[in-house]
Amino acid sequence: KSLRIFDTPTEVAGAVADRLAEVLAQHPRPVITFPTGSTMLPVYREIVARSQTGQLDLRGVQGIQLDEYAGVDDHTEASFRAWLHEHLLAPTGITAFHTLPAHDPTPAALASYEQVIASYGGVDLAILGIGGNGHIAFNEPGSPADSRTRVVELDRRTRQANERYWTDSDAFVPTRAVTQGIGTILEAREVLLIATGAEKAEILHEALHGPVSEHVPASLIRSHPHAEVLADAAAGRQP
Ligand code: GLP
Repeated sequence: KSLRIFDTPTEVAGAVADRLAEVLAQHPRPVITFPTGSTMLPVYREIVARSQTGQLDLRGVQGIQLDEYAGVDDHTEASFRAWLHEHLLAPTGITAFHTLPAHDPTPAALASYEQVIASYGGVDLAILGIGGNGHIAFNEPGSPADSRTRVVELDRRTRQANERYWTDSDAFVPTRAVTQGIGTILEAREVLLIATGAEKAEILHEALHGPVSEHVPASLIRSHPHAEVLADAAAGRQP
């Protein structure tokens, strides 16, 4: 798969913003899935900066939520939707954002979430991070390549990695999440996976050079015809 390595996370952020600008030049109302996580902070900072200086107009974007904790609603401070609202949607003026039915993820609600994406004509660009265990969205190792949007149990390691978001809250990290499936994600016309920092080097190497396998969900993007990986030097080095 195509891998581009940049010196710093800031340069990776610039490349993501450049790609967004190209997508927006092609479609006035692109459908884009946006991930959460610390990898995305410099990326969204760059996108917000460009939108505030008039270089990038994201107001036509139709945003799609990729993953979320189960049980949250619009008032849950530690939710991914609140995080995205703060770091991306509000400062760029993206008002169209299709959320997962996280509060009450019945099979009917999950199916209708996917039907809405289909009614938009599918996803133009799926931006993804990678978890330390190789997860994409909340598809933990072992998730089927053809999985759809569903409720999943979170790994202990994933819950630990996300504890920092739940400090201000009286709740503890939920044990379950709602996530787009791998099959759902890979239906996007283009996939852009972002990895930065030395702690991602080993898993990124495995995802790109190990077997394409459900044990490393991120490796499954190698079966996509238009997937690209953007990494900084720390994540992109050979471990
Ligand atoms: C989280 C999210 C993913 C994210 C990944 C990496 O658990 N569910 O969508 O891509 O882990 O997060 P970070 O960028 O903070 O390392």
